[in-house]
Amino acid sequence: MRHLHSITDLSNEAIMTTIERAIDIKNGNVANFPEIYAANLFFENSTRTKCSFEVAERKLGMQVIPFETSTSSVTKGESLYDTCKTLESIGCNVLVIRHPENDYYKQLDGLNIPIVNGGDGSGQHPTQCLLDLMTIYEEFGKFDGLKVVICGDILNSRVARSNYDALTRLGAEVKFVAPDAWIDKSIPADYVNIDDVIEEVDVCMLLRVQHERHDKASSFTKEEYNNRFGLNQARYDKLKDNAIILHPAPVNRDVEIASELVEAPKARIFKQMENGVYTRMSVLSQVIEGNQ
Ligand code: CP
Repeated sequence: MRHLHSITDLSNEAIMTTIERAIDIKNGNVANFPEIYAANLFFENSTRTKCSFEVAERKLGMQVIPFETSTSSVTKGESLYDTCKTLESIGCNVLVIRHPENDYYKQLDGLNIPIVNGGDGSGQHPTQCLLDLMTIYEEFGKFDGLKVVICGDILNSRVARSNYDALTRLGAEVKFVAPDAWIDKSIPADYVNIDDVIEEVDVCMLLRVQHERHDKASSFTKEEYNNRFGLNQARYDKLKDNAIILHPAPVNRDVEIASELVEAPKARIFKQMENGVYTRMSVLSQVIEGNQ
């Protein structure tokens, strides 16, 4: 693996290798890269992705170069390309980047330094997808034949886009639930009513309502949204005994999911975050090895 821009860059075999390696790392088999310098450039806010990449880098023995856009020369107008070229020139070995622009990484094609995408606009979030896949795989030991429903703000969701691609390729049946305004016609998925599938799904993935990407305020109250598209106690009770609930977080409590269900027995939301560290260690170690 030389870069990780999009989940579509990875073959099914490469996805499975990444998951298996993350599980191996979770079991204590950790490589050490003390000579590697990593920088995390987040042009959009983040808690999970930024912090778990930093934990992953430190657990791999890497040197983490502090970088904050607010105190960098980005504030003087330096371009993304020049910022990354500068970090490459001073000896960084890998960059993790989150940026609001879809496909931002295409403007960095001329660089030698490997880029790991921490999320690009509404495009892709490959490491979120891989940690979701790891969490599903730990639970079921397979993807083939699993029924997955992804609910919510599909149109603006890089998580939905990445997961639809990977899960369908790996043999899962993926359906979407969304308000009309958030349907993404570019993804060839079936849209269903959540109540028509809740009893049969193995995985119920809820997406955050991304208010910051909407032109106008949502026409739904919290209660209306939860009643029509979210998870509440009545729907939770209809889930199969071994079904699991995922959410990339941050969670809008009582919108996508009733607050009391965030840590319910079928919820794996904090397990996803834990697995994010191992997944990112797996990706980073493969990228470093792929560039040696
Ligand atoms: N899931 C996710 O990407 O969370 P952050 O925005 O906090 O990184």
